[in-house]
This record gives sequence, C-alpha cells and structure tokens, in this order.
Amino acid sequence: MALSSLFTTLLIGLLLSRSQLVIAQLSHDQTILVSVGKELGVSGWGLNSSDYCSWPGIGCSSNNSMVERLVLSHRGLQGNVTLISELKALKWLDLSYNNLDGSIPPAFGNLSRLEFLDLSANKFGSSIPIELGSLRNLRALNLSNNLLTGEIPDELEGLENLQDFQIFTNRLIGSIPMWVGNLTNLIVFTAYENGFSGKIPDNLGLVSELQLLNLHSNQLEGSIPESIFSTGKLEFLVLTLNQLAGNLPELIGNCRGLSSIRIGNNKFIGSIPKAIGNVSSLTYFEADNNNLSGEIVSEFSQCSNLTLLNLASNGFTGTIPPEFGQLTNLQEFIVSGNSLFGEIPTSILRSKNLNKLDLSNNRFNGTIPETICNTSRLQYLLLGQNSIRGDIPHQIGDCVKLLELQMGSNYLTGSIPPEIGHIKNLQIALNLSFNHLHGVLPPDLGRLDKLVSLDVSNNQLTGNIPLALKGMLSLIEVNFSNNQFTGPIPTFVPFQKSLNSSFLGNKGLCGEPLSYSCGNLNGSDHKSYHHKVSYRIILIVIGSGLAVFVSVTVVVLLFMMRERQEKAAKAAGISDDGTSSRPSIIAGNVFVENLRQAIEFDAVVKATLKDSNKISCGTFSTVYKADMPSGMILSVKRLRSMDRTIVHHQNKMIRELERLSKLSHDHLMRLIGYVIYEDVALLLHDYFLNGTLAQYLHDSTKQPDCKPDWPTRLSIAIGVAEGLAFLHHLAIIHLDISSGNIVLDSNFKPLVGEVEISKLLDPSRGTASISAVAGSFGYIPPEYAYTMQVTAPGNVYSYGVVLLEILTTRLPVEEAFGEGIDLVRWVHSAPGRGETPEQILDVRLSTVSFAWRKEMLAALKVALLCTDNTPARRPKMKKVVEMLQEITQT
Ligand SMILES: *[C@@H]1O[C@H](CO)[C@@H](O)[C@H](O)[C@H]1NC(C)=O
Ligand SMILES: *[C@@H]1O[C@H](CO)[C@@H](O)[C@H](O)[C@H]1NC(C)=O
Ligand SMILES: *[C@@H]1O[C@H](CO)[C@@H](O)[C@H](O)[C@H]1NC(C)=O
Ligand SMILES: *[C@@H]1O[C@H](CO)[C@@H](O)[C@H](O)[C@H]1NC(C)=O
Ligand SMILES: *[C@@H]1O[C@H](CO)[C@@H](O)[C@H](O)[C@H]1NC(C)=O
Ligand SMILES: *[C@@H]1O[C@H](CO)[C@@H](O)[C@H](O)[C@H]1NC(C)=O
Ligand SMILES: *[C@@H]1O[C@H](CO)[C@@H](O)[C@H](O)[C@H]1NC(C)=O
Ligand SMILES: *[C@@H]1O[C@H](CO)[C@@H](O)[C@H](O)[C@H]1NC(C)=O
Ligand SMILES: *[C@@H]1O[C@H](CO)[C@@H](O)[C@H](O)[C@H]1NC(C)=O
Repeated sequence: MALSSLFTTLLIGLLLSRSQLVIAQLSHDQTILVSVGKELGVSGWGLNSSDYCSWPGIGCSSNNSMVERLVLSHRGLQGNVTLISELKALKWLDLSYNNLDGSIPPAFGNLSRLEFLDLSANKFGSSIPIELGSLRNLRALNLSNNLLTGEIPDELEGLENLQDFQIFTNRLIGSIPMWVGNLTNLIVFTAYENGFSGKIPDNLGLVSELQLLNLHSNQLEGSIPESIFSTGKLEFLVLTLNQLAGNLPELIGNCRGLSSIRIGNNKFIGSIPKAIGNVSSLTYFEADNNNLSGEIVSEFSQCSNLTLLNLASNGFTGTIPPEFGQLTNLQEFIVSGNSLFGEIPTSILRSKNLNKLDLSNNRFNGTIPETICNTSRLQYLLLGQNSIRGDIPHQIGDCVKLLELQMGSNYLTGSIPPEIGHIKNLQIALNLSFNHLHGVLPPDLGRLDKLVSLDVSNNQLTGNIPLALKGMLSLIEVNFSNNQFTGPIPTFVPFQKSLNSSFLGNKGLCGEPLSYSCGNLNGSDHKSYHHKVSYRIILIVIGSGLAVFVSVTVVVLLFMMRERQEKAAKAAGISDDGTSSRPSIIAGNVFVENLRQAIEFDAVVKATLKDSNKISCGTFSTVYKADMPSGMILSVKRLRSMDRTIVHHQNKMIRELERLSKLSHDHLMRLIGYVIYEDVALLLHDYFLNGTLAQYLHDSTKQPDCKPDWPTRLSIAIGVAEGLAFLHHLAIIHLDISSGNIVLDSNFKPLVGEVEISKLLDPSRGTASISAVAGSFGYIPPEYAYTMQVTAPGNVYSYGVVLLEILTTRLPVEEAFGEGIDLVRWVHSAPGRGETPEQILDVRLSTVSFAWRKEMLAALKVALLCTDNTPARRPKMKKVVEMLQEITQT
C-alpha cells in the first residue's frame, strides 16, 4: 500500500513537471490509442510501459508527445478505424495489409495535418469519401487493392500537394478527372485494374513532374495525350489492355529517362516515331496486339539498354534493320504475326544475351544462317509459318540451350541434321512439320530425353522410325503423319498411346496404334522389349539424371511442362508484374476450424506469385512460403495444369481434398485447406522451419551444430514407416517417396508429404488419363520400368532408399558410386567389393558407441530387405515398422 502510493506520488511529480495542457492532451491521445488498440485487436500495446510513444508502430512529436505517426500494416487488423480520426496531430497513417472493411471513415477528413495516408490492401468498399478532399497537406494517398466503387470524387481536387496518388486494383468507374492534370506536384499516378473509361486527361503531366503513369486494364479510349511527355520526366508508362487508339506521339523522344513503355493490347495505329531513338534509357518496349504499321524503325538500335522488344500481332512490313545487332542487351525479340520479310537477321543472332527470337507467322524468305547459334543463349527459336528456304544447317546443334524449336510450315529442304539430337535441353517442342524435308529420321533424336512434343509430319521423310527414339522418355505428343516412313512402329508407350492419325499417311508403316499389324516382325520386337529395354531405360535414366520416369500421366507431365516453361521464362530475367491482373479465386476452403480467421486466400495467392517465397520445386509442384497478415506462416504447394485440367475436374478435386482433409496421422502432413484460381490449385500446409529430411541429412548449412544423432535419425525412420504403413492400410499408394518429400517439425518429428498428389493423380481413380507411374530419381523400384504401375512393394523399395540415406548420409545417386550405380546397388554390392558394413554406414554415427553401431547394423538389414530386387520378397510396411521398433527395444 505504502509502496504504491509512493509510486503514484512519483508519477504525479513527473507529470507535473510538464505543463497542464500537455497532460490533458497526453491522456487524450493515450485514451484514444487504448480504445483503438482494443477495437482493432492490436497486440503489444501497453505491455512494457505506459509511455504510449514507445509502443510499436507509434511515433510522437518531440515537443508535446502527440501521436504523429501510426504504422499498423500487416497486423491482421479488423474493426472500426473511425476513432483514429481523433488523433489530431497525425501526419503519417499506414493501415495497409489488414482485413479492414466497410467504408473509409469520412472522419479521416478531419486529420488536417495528414501528409501520408496508406489504406492499401484491405477490403474497404463503397465510394471514396469526399471528406478526404480536406486533407490539404496530403502528399501520398494510397487506396490501392481494395474494393472501392464509384467515381473519383471531384472534392479531391483540393489535394494540391499530392505527389503519389495510387488507386489501382479497385472497382472504380467513370473517367479520370481533368483536375488530376492540375496537380502540380504529381509524380506517381497508378489507376490500373479498375473500370475507368473515357479519355486520359490531355493536361496530364503538363504542369507536374509525372514519372510513373500506370493505367493498364481499364476501358480507356482516345489517344495518348502529348502532355505526358511534355516535361520529359516520365520513366514508366503502362497503358496495356485498354481501347486506346491513334498514333504514338513523336514527343515521346523528349523522355530520355523513359525505361518502360508498355502499350500492348490497344488499337494504336501508324508507325513508331523515329524519335524513339532518343529514349536512351529504354529497356522494355511492348506494343503487341495493336494495328501499328510501317517498317520497324532502325532507331531502336540507339536504345542500347533495350532488353525486350515485342511488336507481335501488328501490321509491320519490311525487313529487320541490321543495326539491331548493336542491341547487346536484347533478351527477347518478338515480332510474330506481322508481314516482315527478308533474311533471318544474323546481326541480332550475334547478341550474346538473346534468349527468345520469335519471327513466326511472317513472310521471312531467307535461309537459316550457319551462324544461328554461334554465341547465343537462345532458348526459344520460333521460325514457324514463314517462307524460309534451304537446308537446316548442322550448326543447329550448337543451340545447346534451346527449350523450343519451331520451324514448321516453311520451305525447308534437305534432311534433318542429326545434330539436333545434341540439344539436350530441348523440352517444349521440336516442330519441323509442313516442310520439304527428306531422308531418314536421325536416331540421334532419341537422345532428347526431355522433349515433350515432336512433330515431323507432312514432309517426305523415309526409312524406319528408329528404335532409338525410345530414349525420348518425356514424350507425350508425336506426329509422324504424311511422310514415307516404312516398317514397324517401335513398341514405346508414347507411340502406342498416340492417336493413329499421328502415323497415318505413311504407306509403309505398320503396328500399333495403326490397324495394320506387321505379322511376326512386331511380335519378336515386343518380346525382347521387356527384358532388354527395361534394363536399357533404367540405364538411360540413370545416365541422364532424369527426375521423372516410366510413363507419366498426361496430367503430371502437363504440370511439369508448365513449371518448366515458367522457369524458363523466369530465367529470361524479364518479370511481368504490371499487366498480370489479380487472379480471381474460384474456390477455397480452410478445413481447420480455428485457423479460418488466420488464413486469407488473397494473401495465399499473392505469396505464390512472388519468386522470393519459393521454398522448393518438386516433381509435381512448387512449394512457397506464405506469410499471412495474421502472422501465421503457411507452406503452400502449387499445382498447375495446362488445358484447364484443374478447372474441368475441380468438383472431383474438391471432393477428394475434403476427404483428404479428414486423413489424420501423426506422421502425415495435414492438409489445412486449399485455394483454386484460374487453372491453379494451391494446397495449404503447416510451415516448418526445420525443412525436409533431405536438407537435414545432406545440407550442411541447415545443421548448425552438425551433431551426429543416431536416436533422432532412427525415430525419423520409424515415423516415416508408420506414416506409410497407415497409408497402405487405407490402400493409398504414395507416388513420390523421397527424403525431399519428408518434412521435419520443430521436434524433428517426420511428416510425409505429397500425399494429396498421390490421391489427386491416382490413376486407378480415373483422375489421370493414362495409367501411369512417377517418382524421384534414385527412389524408383526397378520393376516400375516394365510393370508401369505404382504398388505398395514399390513404396517399400523407395522407403528403403530413404532408410539407406539415413544410415549412410549419402544421396540416392552420387557420382562417387560409379557410372550407372545408385545408392541401392552400391550398398548391395559392398560384400562383392570386399567392403564391411562400417565402410557403408556414416562413421560419424557408427563409431560413437557400440550400442549405436548395433542398432545401425540392424536397421541396415531392414533397408536391404526393403530394397530387394524382387518386389514379393520385400516386407510389408507394417512389418518394417515392427522390425524398426524392435531395434530400439533390444
Ligand atoms: C518490451 O521490451 C523488450 C525489451 O526492451 C523488447 O524486446 C520488446 O520488443 C518490448 N515489447 C513490446 C511489445 O514493446
Ligand atoms: C510542436 O512542434 C510543432 C512543429 O514540430 C509545432 O507545430 C507545434 O506548435 C509545437 N507544439 C508545441 C506545444 O510547442
Ligand atoms: C464506426 O464507429 C463510428 C462511431 O465511432 C460510427 O459512426 C460508424 O458507423 C462505425 N462504422 C462502422 C462501419 O460500424
Ligand atoms: C470533424 O470535426 C468536427 C469538429 O470537431 C466535427 O463536428 C465533425 O463531425 C467531424 N467530422 C467527422 C466526419 O467526424
Ligand atoms: C502506397 O503508396 C505510397 C505512396 O506511393 C507508398 O509509399 C506505399 O509503399 C504504398 N503502399 C504499399 C503497401 O505499397
Ligand atoms: C486546371 O487548371 C487550369 C489553369 O489553372 C484551369 O483553367 C482549369 O479550370 C483547371 N481544371 C480543373 C478541372 O480544375
Ligand atoms: C532527338 O534528339 C536530337 C539530338 O539531341 C534532337 O535534335 C531531336 O530534336 C530529338 N528528337 C525528339 C523528337 O526529341
Ligand atoms: C543503361 O542501364 C545502366 C544500368 O542500369 C545505366 O547505368 C545506364 O545509364 C543506362 N544507359 C542509358 C543510356 O540509359
Ligand atoms: C523475299 O520477299 C520479298 C518481298 O516479297 C522479295 O522482294 C524478295 O525478292 C524475296 N527474296 C527472296 C530471296 O526470295
């Protein structure tokens, strides 16, 4: 009692040292803050001290302790923010990235000292309150990423000091008011992704210092006002996806600092002004899908920083100026869908950074130069639908980085150079169709083991379809039709699964899928296939380090194809953030009741659009880390299909996910929820800092102390076995068991992941189009090569590989094992090499104690049983659990 009264006295004494007025004010702002904190659920206020100026997110003026800054972004806040308007001294208010909804409080108009107002990334609806027009001191107004409706109120005209005005991604309509052009201090104006119509004000930029103008994805009409170029300060101009028409003004040359011009998908006409050469900072010029015409001006070559030039789908004619060879930074040159002719520009091909050359669908009538890939990093060479003559040069084999080669529908002659088989990266497509090629199909093409689509149709090719093409392990689409091929069609799943139209029009071909059989010839080929080929496929796979194996479902491959394309596009180093509209969510659910509040679908989707959030890339999916505004962290697995597989099967998929959410086991990753948008499915899981078992075992940077801990490893091994035994008990076969798909929680408890994939793509349930199998390299049981079926014993084998990893700390495939030898064969053949188990086990563990060594030898025995070559001799998963548990008990 005495103590507390002494404390009170002290406190009063302290306060009295300030003026009476200050005390009154102080308590006022504090009262308001406490109420605001309560209403919105702000955590951390008032915990440490009663000095509210030190609370997180609060800044006070130094002379009178009034609240001047309030920064409460990313706090998962909800509730009524009106009371904040009582903090009269506020200059800086940031409430971005919360869950605030309702209308923006008109009372904010009373915050007369406000200079910075950021309400972006919330759910504010209704119209923008006219009262905001009284914020005469406002320099930045950010209302982007909300659900605002109606027009921009004219009352905002009074915001004379506005420098940054951001209202993108809302539902605003009407026209962009003329007074925006009268804001003399305006530097940034973004209003993209709204429903704005009418013309861009023709005084915009006239009196201001406009540097960034982004109005894409609206319904704006009329022409580009010259005013935006008048001061020469413009740096970014994005007008993509509108109804804008007219010419590109000559005055654009006034803006030397303009680095990005994106005006695609409009109705622009006329030619590109030569003054473009004066825009010396230009890096990105995108004007595809307009009605631009005339020649491609050589003045572009003066823009030495030009990285992307996209003029596709316009009416350009003439030839490509040789001066473009000076553009050493050029990465993408896209002029498809015009009326260009002449030679393929050899000067551009010299550009070391060129990644994509798209000349398709024009009238190019030259030949393919021998210097086609002398120096380039070319990944996309798209020459289809032109009038290109002559032979395909052997030097095409120098294009080692190519992912896609399109040469269809030209007048190419001669034979297919075997050197195309050297382009090991080729994966998206090889299209030589509709030419005049003759001669045989080079067996070297069989080395293209990543290629998904091969089209040599409509030529004059002769001879057999080489058996060596069976090396094209990733093939999904083939077309050999309308040639002069003869002999039996090789027995190879992608061939037999093709439509017979892929082989029609060849008088001499026989065998499946054609209806003419080849008699005995085919039978003998078929028999030898099982023995010789399965072995060969394994060797090829081991040799090539391919991640996916045997026949893989179309769905799965399409997933992968998309992932690859994306990766490739990212590798090109050109980000495309401006035009991508916010994807609309088709479906979503959170299965865990008490997490519903903490998870926001929009934030989940956003997190997966950012490369920096990427955690890992699996066979079927990419995993991202997603920070929720609530503070929760999720691991989000993204499945993406082409051809709208997800959209078409979404009901089936959702039902399956609901069922999966009920699948609960200590050692299986729980499915928290899902989000489906466009053709993408996102699966939500808990996020664990400890990463995967693969990282724990093989990534030394993830193990701070690198402590050899056998008991932890054994309990991980048992946990994984238990998880798999549970799945097998429910007749669920895992598609992709690997240490990379096993996550460790904070107590190093293992959780088996990728279970959904197994279920969603389970061939026996008809969700996949071809009965098929997949897995990770090094974990695939040998019998999969000829049975083409996932089985429980197959899972036991893959588990055995994981157990060997745990025992040896070796990767499933290492060069050190020797050519064609994986971890399993290396371990099984140790006695033959005269090696003892000690030379196989991780010595950092086995030499610690006799007890550990004994347990490790017992576990090794289990691993050897699991990886037996004969599936029938492998133990059941349940038995594996028992054997491992016995180890710990003896
Ligand atoms: C309380 O004080 C401690 C130590 O000064 C600090 O680390 C912590 O962030 C403070 N917490 C809050 C909510 O201010
Ligand atoms: C505190 O300082 C601000 C300027 O920083 C001034 O506008 C205000 O009048 C001052 N208030 C008092 C009580 O001194
Ligand atoms: C918020 O509170 C104010 C009074 O403080 C009230 O006028 C207003 O209607 C409330 N807004 C909502 C959305 O409930
Ligand atoms: C602004 O403040 C005035 C005077 O304090 C008050 O009468 C008015 O209601 C306030 N406006 C709003 C929208 O709260
Ligand atoms: C909102 O706009 C302001 C001014 O341009 C900017 O500083 C701020 O970072 C933006 N807010 C968000 C969340 O991007
Ligand atoms: C913009 O400023 C000009 C010149 O000061 C003035 O004539 C015009 O009325 C203003 N326009 C708007 C819409 O305020
Ligand atoms: C381009 O630059 C040249 C030389 O600086 C200048 O003479 C010409 O007027 C400029 N053209 C335009 C359209 O700005
Ligand atoms: C080209 O880009 C570099 C790096 O961004 C920059 O330093 C240089 O000034 C740019 N060149 C021109 C002509 O703008
Ligand atoms: C290519 O086409 C252009 C335009 O039709 C024509 O003038 C030119 O002679 C052609 N070149 C060759 C080599 O055929």
